[in-house]
Amino acid sequence: MLIVNREEAVLRELNLYPLWARRGQVPPLPTSGARDSAGESETVSSPGTSREQPAGEHGWPELKAKVRGCTACKLRAGCTQTVFGAGDEKAGWVFVGEGPGADEDARGEPFVGQAGKLLDNMLAAIGLKRGRNVYIGNIVKCRPPGNRAPETDEIAQCLPYLQRQIDLIRPRLIVALGKTAATALLGREAALGSLRGTVHEYRGTPLVITYHPAYLLRSPTEKAKAWQDLCLAVKTMNATAGG
Ligand code: URA
Repeated sequence: MLIVNREEAVLRELNLYPLWARRGQVPPLPTSGARDSAGESETVSSPGTSREQPAGEHGWPELKAKVRGCTACKLRAGCTQTVFGAGDEKAGWVFVGEGPGADEDARGEPFVGQAGKLLDNMLAAIGLKRGRNVYIGNIVKCRPPGNRAPETDEIAQCLPYLQRQIDLIRPRLIVALGKTAATALLGREAALGSLRGTVHEYRGTPLVITYHPAYLLRSPTEKAKAWQDLCLAVKTMNATAGG
């Protein structure tokens, strides 16, 4: 019988092996501390740093209520409910997607559709699990109609909520999933491929950029690159452990 290690077993189950990794390629996760975290659509956004922060002083309950009642942009009128974000509110890892799709709109939770399944598998491949030291959020909290990319003004209205979430969580690392998240968090637009492989910063927190799981579902050969990005994220996390 073939004996495989845990990572390999996960990758095989995902149908990602051997594209994603061979045995021993996963950098070890940090062992200590509670704070141990493309779609290629063209979206331009404003940086989150230079705007008024309507959510800036809120704690979790007020922030959640504020998002629930938000009608600041046109997205709310076309969606079923807001999708606030979910997970460990003291997480070391924050993963940021673009915005809710149909499944998320129906359930009120981020990444619960096909892309979410792949995200769960990506997390598992580096020893993480949704909700355990991991928080998952989106650039916009309301589903854009027809799954279009969120527009600049929609992102500008919504980004302060995510900013406040990140301020409250104080993660050790942020992973931007796809171009919309990367552009919004960096405050500048660039080809996603050119942003990979470098550790950026979002308001002082290390930021690693990789492809959006929905993009990876459409372009499975890019999974190898996403795997490299996740390894960079783990390496970065290890380097910041205890720092
Ligand atoms: N895609 C995203 O960017 N976010 C979700 O929550 C689901 C799909």
